[in-house]
Amino acid sequence: MKAKYAALRGTRDLLPDEIGRWLYLENRVRDVFGRYRFQEIRTPVLEATELFARSVGESTDIVHKEMYTLKRGDESVSLRPENTASVVRAFVQHSLHRSLAEGFPARYYYIGPMFRYERPQKGRQRQFHQIGAEVLGSADPLCDAETMEMLCRFLDELGITDRELVLNSLGDPDCRVRYRAALVDWLQPRRANLCEDCRRKSADNPLRVFDCKVEPDQALLADAPEILSFLGDEAAAHLDQVRALLDRYGIAYRIDPRMVRGLDYYQRTVFEVVASGLGSQNAILGGGRYDGLVRDLGGPEVPGFGFAIGMERLIALMPQDRSVAGDADLVLVCLGQEGLDGGVNLARRLRSAGLKVAMPMAVRPMGVQMRRAGRTGAPFALFVGTQELAEGRFGLKNLETGQQETVDEHELFIRLGVKT
Ligand code: HAM
Repeated sequence: MKAKYAALRGTRDLLPDEIGRWLYLENRVRDVFGRYRFQEIRTPVLEATELFARSVGESTDIVHKEMYTLKRGDESVSLRPENTASVVRAFVQHSLHRSLAEGFPARYYYIGPMFRYERPQKGRQRQFHQIGAEVLGSADPLCDAETMEMLCRFLDELGITDRELVLNSLGDPDCRVRYRAALVDWLQPRRANLCEDCRRKSADNPLRVFDCKVEPDQALLADAPEILSFLGDEAAAHLDQVRALLDRYGIAYRIDPRMVRGLDYYQRTVFEVVASGLGSQNAILGGGRYDGLVRDLGGPEVPGFGFAIGMERLIALMPQDRSVAGDADLVLVCLGQEGLDGGVNLARRLRSAGLKVAMPMAVRPMGVQMRRAGRTGAPFALFVGTQELAEGRFGLKNLETGQQETVDEHELFIRLGVKT
């Protein structure tokens, strides 16, 4: 039967049989990021539209075309298309810079849904989820390299090894001014050959032409000037040091001088990790340095560096066996009304002891109950009937081996590893 209501295009339900993989991933985040002393932060999914316009950038595709924006009274609010802006907003709002000391940046991570009104396709949704991390308070190349090292460790431990780290530098604001001028000069005589969107961008924010997905434009832009030739001494030295540290850690990377990322707040280091096996949406994560953002959002001069990973893309790449099992510890097979009543009481005691217990909610034939038992993932079934309750001894069946023994309640707890 066709459902009358379906989840909106570009959004999807995560059903119980997929949740084990999401929980596994979230557990790995908390473990690996925790080793580097990142702390979790949770910000609202709804923010002032102005926040994203000011940070991600008015002329980016994300803000210009993809935000879910609504008006409430005089306010314009948007569902967050990304979370760096919100984390920085919270950092400024709560004066979190007060806890910083030279060499001791604040480290935050988040896990949650983001919203972009994009054309849905494989690996691209309108509601998707990100795992992100932000380091506030260090401009040191060590911060860039260590954060990328953590990422590589995280991906290795998830079993995602067929991947490539791609690196570039967008330089400092003054390098960008010089580059922008050179790019505008280069684009000017070619404007007529660009798509309408790129013609608009080449006037407003020329670096954004590199976000264009139109093939002939991409081919044309392959010959555009490269930002790396415009780096000043300090930005160039910063990139060299990041590279030297990555080399020292044995982390392989490729420099792509045309990677500019689709958000305006970056300067100096930018990076992505791409993986094969994902089709055209092959970036599993992206990030970079955003040293002016805290100041731009009304805070003090605090540098920042971070990244965000697309969880759907990561889960698609994770080996099949990576999942948290939601299995029951024990299934009660209740015989008749008395068995069901006694089973309810027994289940209460077992659950108080911390065990996951499955049982029916109505009197059902034993054959039906045994067939359902297999679905609970429980290793044992316990038979509860009038006689068993009277004697205080129950049949305990190992569902893997088929072996059966008789146990009292005390022995049952011991079998199931509960201390009594
Ligand atoms: P982003 O490159 O826009 O960066 O997104 C990061 C990752 O989110 C992408 O590499 C991709 O895996 C995933 N992603 C983005 N859009 C979609 C979509 N429509 N469907 C599925 N997955 C998607 C940021 O969001 C920055 N805030 C990253 C950052 C943090 N930079 C510094 N700190």
